[in-house]
Amino acid sequence: MSFKTLVAILCLVPVALAQQPAWAQCGGQGWTGGTTCVAGYSCVAQNSYYSQCLPTGTGTGSGTVTSTSGGSSPSATSTTPLNTAAKAAGKKYFGSATDNPELSDSAYVKILSDSTMFGQITPGNSMKWDATEPSRGTFTFTQGDQIANLTKANGQLLRGHNCVWHNQLPSWVTSGNFNAATLSSIITTHCGTVVGHYKGQIYSWDVVNEPFNDDGTFRQDVFYNTLGQDYISIALNAARAADPNAKLYINDYNIEGTGAKSTAMVNLVKSLKAANVPIDGIGVQAHLIVGQVPSTLEANLRQFTALGVEVAITELDIRMTLPATDALLAQQKKDYQTVIAACRAVSGCIGVTIWDYTDKYSWVPSTFSGQGAALPWDANLNKKPAYDGIVAGFAS
Ligand code: G3I
Repeated sequence: MSFKTLVAILCLVPVALAQQPAWAQCGGQGWTGGTTCVAGYSCVAQNSYYSQCLPTGTGTGSGTVTSTSGGSSPSATSTTPLNTAAKAAGKKYFGSATDNPELSDSAYVKILSDSTMFGQITPGNSMKWDATEPSRGTFTFTQGDQIANLTKANGQLLRGHNCVWHNQLPSWVTSGNFNAATLSSIITTHCGTVVGHYKGQIYSWDVVNEPFNDDGTFRQDVFYNTLGQDYISIALNAARAADPNAKLYINDYNIEGTGAKSTAMVNLVKSLKAANVPIDGIGVQAHLIVGQVPSTLEANLRQFTALGVEVAITELDIRMTLPATDALLAQQKKDYQTVIAACRAVSGCIGVTIWDYTDKYSWVPSTFSGQGAALPWDANLNKKPAYDGIVAGFAS
């Protein structure tokens, strides 16, 4: 072997060593090993100490893709923007949730801000109780305002999320041992102030979020345990008084298909209407699983709109067990198409919001271990086959 050949081979060695295998570490503070991954895998930062080779396109909740090597995932071919597709199908919007920390990612914001793609935005966290009234009577709107201002600048609709929810409550609410009269006034002040702050800027509010258990009974949270179901009308009345033009919704998950929880929602809306409590819409969250879209989705949306309220799909994502194979991505495309086609077919289903648009910022992997890839854009902001499914659903 000539000296030249030896040098050439030696030069190749570090490159070969740098290709980390699937799932291996590929970066992080103090890491001296390889920083790229074998074909089909990308190096994704989990935190400042650890980056891991994950299947390209899957990403993690907070992961940042630091390198991608080889392999190619199937991608979308449609060039029709999603809000344009929704409007052509007679809907008010196609939208996305977002969250404040992501707004420093300029490539992400560029896509989010395209109003032909997203005609509506929902703040994923920054209008919730812990963000807006962290201590009693002290209201903070900086983060919510950042998102409201973004939608204004982009000409996008804004959904408010949310007034009253069992989760993300400051401890002064959950541990205050308030009697019914005091808690009622706390709800009225909270919803009145938050909805009032955004008066005129909001298309619709998730006034009450997730009031039911999966068996259709009311969730036993601090509101229900203190006030019974009256807390729902207290919140809705306060919201109506604060912004008469905002559509007021009750929003829940596992009410995509017919069943006990959907029946409970029907009965609640009937009773609110009978009592002249303001209620304009039912939000169907739709945190779904690939291959498991309920077959009764369209029929269920119809039974909701038959109550005389509008319906929106408010938090759509369709997760899978990782890694994201071509077959799973193809099934996911079908599932997105099925969900969108069901909304398209029901005239009172006014719009669809995905719970963020990219796997880079999805809530799924941090909540369901080993699952993810739930959104139509992958963690590198490339469109997945699911994107084509959405376009096809609006066109069908
Ligand atoms: O704000 C703290 C931050 O100070 C702290 O450093 C960090 C450490 O983990 O946590 C931050 O709070 C996180 C919060 O999001 C804001 O980023 C919470 O841990 C985290 O649990 C929380 O998750 C949110 C989740 O609601 C809470 O239940 C998700 O981002 C949000 O997407 C998700 O959204 C809900 C809808 O509101 C209702 N329907 C279900 C949907 C998905 O869970």
